Amino acid sequence: MIREIQDKIIALKKEKNICLVAHTYQASEILEVADIKGDSFVLSQKAQLAPESTVVLAGVRFMAEGVKLLSPDKKVILAHPDAGCPMAEQIAPERVRQYKKEHPDHPIVAYINTTAELKAVCDVCVTSSTAVKIVSRLPEKEMLFIPDCNLGDYVQRQLPDKKINLWLGGCHVHAGVTERDVINARKDHPGALLLVHPECVPEVVAHADFVGSTSAILEFAAQSDANEFIIGTEMSISEHLTYQFPDKHFHMLSKKLVCPNMKITSLMDVYRAIAGTGGEEIILSDELMRDARRPIDKMIELGQ
Ligand code: 13P
Ligand code: SF4
Repeated sequence: MIREIQDKIIALKKEKNICLVAHTYQASEILEVADIKGDSFVLSQKAQLAPESTVVLAGVRFMAEGVKLLSPDKKVILAHPDAGCPMAEQIAPERVRQYKKEHPDHPIVAYINTTAELKAVCDVCVTSSTAVKIVSRLPEKEMLFIPDCNLGDYVQRQLPDKKINLWLGGCHVHAGVTERDVINARKDHPGALLLVHPECVPEVVAHADFVGSTSAILEFAAQSDANEFIIGTEMSISEHLTYQFPDKHFHMLSKKLVCPNMKITSLMDVYRAIAGTGGEEIILSDELMRDARRPIDKMIELGQ
């Protein structure tokens, strides 16, 4: 059944000139037929270079918006219209505007995992893998970091000369992991390396052997000589690694590391979006496109 749907997807993509883009937290059966896979920002960068004029995205809304912002001439369809991200959507842009009024000298740094509306009121974006580099290159000493206080805290610890004001927000999936989970996992798997995403709380990050974005964790595990790992990010990453490297051992740091927003998209949703009977086209006004693109361009400029 899965194979049949996958074959239909492959044929339809070709027939309709569609590029299928999927975040690494998606199910394997979706990733197997995706043309582009990766972490949040990499998806939009790679989609920009794709020759197809239509992109179907299996992931969450802010990722589809990210693709649209970098590829304004492409038609971008979010495979499941209800696939949102509570972290990306948790701040009303008005509250950031208010902060700006009160602190006109503080740049607003936005994690790329935010809505286009929120990006539009910020000064520079960062990804989980570039945050330290980008913040270190900002001329200002003091700033506001939104929306993930855990990633913000991680950056602050790497850059003690900066003063990073944090917003009390974050990813409930990663932030749900506790130090107790680390102690238990270390006890169950002594000798395994602990790889965690910086969206985890500081008490968890402090125990890590490696801290990095989704792709950085995948890359680290692939290249490491070690053969046993505890994975502190969404469950699918442990599954993909187990599948890719059958001789290595991967354990989930906690069973709580499952993102329901990422899991809402099924292979059938992807099929319907490609067939034109499902999904939702991402439409952003010209003004929003212009304003939300600005902090992304700033990130690209500072990252060079
Ligand atoms: P990255 O894929 O950029 O590491 O972000 C993690 C995440 O939570 C995506 O939803
Ligand atoms: Fe959002 Fe889920 Fe990613 Fe957390 S894991 S940032 S809730 S999409």
